[in-house]
Amino acid sequence: MHSTGYPPPETEHPGTYDPRTDYPDAMRICETIEDMRAACRAARRGGKRLGFVPTMGALHEGHLSLVRAARASCDIVTASIFVNPTQFGPNEDLAKYPRTFERDRKLLEKEGVELLFAPSVEEMYPVGAAAWVTVEELSDKLDGRSRPGHFRGVTTVVAKLFHIVEPDAAFFGQKDAAQVAVIRRMARDLNFFLEIVACPIVREADGLAMSSRNAYLDPQQRKQALVLYRSLMRVQKLADAGELNAAKLAAAAREEVAGENSVRLDYLEIVDPDTLDSVEDVANGALVAVAAFVGTARLIDNILLPKTAG
Ligand code: PAJ
Repeated sequence: MHSTGYPPPETEHPGTYDPRTDYPDAMRICETIEDMRAACRAARRGGKRLGFVPTMGALHEGHLSLVRAARASCDIVTASIFVNPTQFGPNEDLAKYPRTFERDRKLLEKEGVELLFAPSVEEMYPVGAAAWVTVEELSDKLDGRSRPGHFRGVTTVVAKLFHIVEPDAAFFGQKDAAQVAVIRRMARDLNFFLEIVACPIVREADGLAMSSRNAYLDPQQRKQALVLYRSLMRVQKLADAGELNAAKLAAAAREEVAGENSVRLDYLEIVDPDTLDSVEDVANGALVAVAAFVGTARLIDNILLPKTAG
């Protein structure tokens, strides 16, 4: 049993049944690194392609789209649920981050995930853990600038997960565009031999990007949150009409966000999707990324503008 961390005491413990004996075809849940590593190595035997979807749980259709992408291109699909404390700042929402293990477990099982890794905090970070994986510079841009230390926590836990699972391909959402850039750079620079696959953003019917943090919004804030998507659509429309100047596009988007006075803009930037450096014009394609506080929830969204012809 976990002494702290995951899963929380109010949910049924994953160990209350043994899927291997109760349901031989059911998803196997591993809570220790040793178990998970052995199960992944066994799963890859015979040259099977292992796909991996790391998550922090509170699953929604965005997460499930990654699982489906993995399912479509891999023989075995594995996922992890771990609310990683090292990627939360001291004043962030670690304690109240939604934890819905039983529901998540069922969703993953329904998608045909073969293996789920759900370790405790102590399992992942033994007392005295002092090693970090840092991607310098890139980790201080966009969300990294607003959330100091965030990407160091992400790259450290993702590197650990990659070592434990040893996947052939790992699936991430374009929703967290800066995270994709940082993880790609880490994998390249540290010679992780796997494919990093970025999957499109899944949205609610009205355009709001799906996020576990949308659960923090009350009905009024839920409506206000739409301004993020509206600001991006304004940029899209102007770019489609031929406006290439990044400063002008960004100004239009900021104006849109300013119109929703209960929403506090954190950043709106137009950058190169790989280096996350600002671009002057969007002719070569660009990432338009926005982050804003709606109530206490910090939400992010983005679009990719394609390279214009010529
Ligand atoms: P989490 O926020 O749970 O997200 C897990 C994965 O789901 C990420 O790759 C994220 O980009 C993707 N995702 C979230 N919302 C999405 C949406 N609306 N459409 C498409 N994909 C979406 O990101 C993390 O966890 C953590 O940082 C993690 C990588 C697990 C490391 O702790």
